[in-house]
Amino acid sequence: IAKLDQNLPLKGKKVLITAGPTYEAIDPVRFIGNHSSGKMGYALAEESLKNGAEVILISGPTNLLSNASIKKIDVTSAKQMLDACLTYFDEVDICVMSAAVADYAPSIVEEQKIKKQTESFTIDLTKTKDILYTLGQKKKKQILVGFALETQNEEKNALDKLQRKNLDFIVLNSLNDKGAGFKHDTNKITILDKNHQKTTFDLKTKKEIAKDICAKIISIL
Ligand code: CTP
Ligand code: CA
Repeated sequence: IAKLDQNLPLKGKKVLITAGPTYEAIDPVRFIGNHSSGKMGYALAEESLKNGAEVILISGPTNLLSNASIKKIDVTSAKQMLDACLTYFDEVDICVMSAAVADYAPSIVEEQKIKKQTESFTIDLTKTKDILYTLGQKKKKQILVGFALETQNEEKNALDKLQRKNLDFIVLNSLNDKGAGFKHDTNKITILDKNHQKTTFDLKTKKEIAKDICAKIISIL
């Protein structure tokens, strides 16, 4: 087995993966979140491990368990996820950002539970820092992979993100198909890379998609 291990394609490589949603606190009992299950990121972590990589998984709140050989760091907010990513970025070879990071967080976190009073109520939100963009600016040797979720002008918007965030490739998730998306075990993806190569895939399980994404990473190593 030791001999086989040494031939694994990601042997000696460190992979950083983000997964799940982030929760942005409003007050001690409430938050702004989203429906991300974390399944895609956890499948990627598992697949990277199988391919011999050392895996660091930075996870927002999920119900999922991960292999004991994966170094898992639990975070809650976008800010915590950014800080954890910055801690490890310099030492990794591959970085895959599959988390559904909140784009906005409450500008003020109330210390006490907000009591209902007025008929209408507004929460002021401030943009979170884009983790992927931040890493793209710091990038040296790393392979940097992002995801994109679009409901219109899918490919153009994904290509914009690929370029703006300085990625090696981007995984475009199609919501158009039945059986694809947050609540499902399946997705339909298109991979767009920085050399303008486009690969479309059939609807498949997130585990199978993780294999396709790892194969793409291995092909550009
Ligand atoms: N992302 C991130 N940090 C954020 C927001 C997004 O790292 N604060 C990452 C996601 O993990 C994903 C990629 O950026 O890999 C694209 O996320 P997406 O929500 O599709 O794009 P945004 O750039 O946030 O733009 P918008 O939501 O307006 O389409
Ligand atoms: Ca977003």
